[in-house]
Order: sequence, then C-alpha cells, then structure tokens
Amino acid sequence: MNNRPIKEFTQEELTTTKNYSICLVSIFGKVYNIAKYLPKHPGGDNILFQAAGDILDEVFTDGNHRNLKDKVAGMLAEYQVGVLKR
Ligand code: HEM
Repeated sequence: MNNRPIKEFTQEELTTTKNYSICLVSIFGKVYNIAKYLPKHPGGDNILFQAAGDILDEVFTDGNHRNLKDKVAGMLAEYQVGVLKR
C-alpha cells in the first residue's frame, strides 16, 4: 500500500465499481482491487470477475478456498486499496 492513507470503502462502493480496471472485492475487512490479479487466478478470470463487488469472506472460511484462509492476505497484499467500512 506504499504510504498512502487507508481508504474506507462502503459495501455500495464495492458493488457499483466493476470493470476491467477496477474490480473490488473485500476479504476479511480488507478491500482489494483484483483487476490485475484476474488473469493470474488459477481458477480462471471469469469466475473471479463474477465475484467482483462481493465480500468473499465465506469463500475463505467455508467455501472452496478454506485452505487459503491464512494465506490470502499475503497473496493479495500488493492489490490492497483500503478497508471495508463496517
Ligand atoms: C481474490 C480472491 C481469490 C484468490 C486470491 C484465489 C486464489 C486461488 C488459488 C491460489 C487457486 C489455486 C488452487 C488452490 O491453491 O486452492 C485458486 C483456484 C480456484 N479458484 Fe480461486 N481465488 C479467489 C477467489 C475465487 C472465487 C470467488 C471463486 C469462485 C467462487 C474461485 C474459484 C476457484 C476455482 C474454481 C479454482 C480451481 C479449483 C480449485 O482449486 O478449487 N476463486 N484460486
């Protein structure tokens, strides 16, 4: 995140911003712009693009990525753009 101030995103901002340059998701309170991660996703970019705008916590607690729960923050660190406003 370099030294930029932490931006707080509302859930509405997540869902209304969705294109191939800005593609926001939230996981465990952090907000990521995964646009540049889409082509790198081992499960394909399309399925991940469909998740844009969503809060994905459950995918990493009960879903098919529960094995990645402890790793996800590290995997996406370079894409973090802020935190989710609760
Ligand atoms: C930004 C969030 C995500 C990250 C960082 C991520 C990361 C990964 C990684 C590292 C893999 C390789 C397999 C593994 O190690 O388990 C993978 C595979 C896969 N991902 Fe994701 N994923 C994300 C979101 C999603 C979402 C939301 C879905 C769909 C609900 C999804 C569906 C899949 C599928 C179907 C595979 C291939 C099969 C599997 O290994 O389960 N992913 N993903």
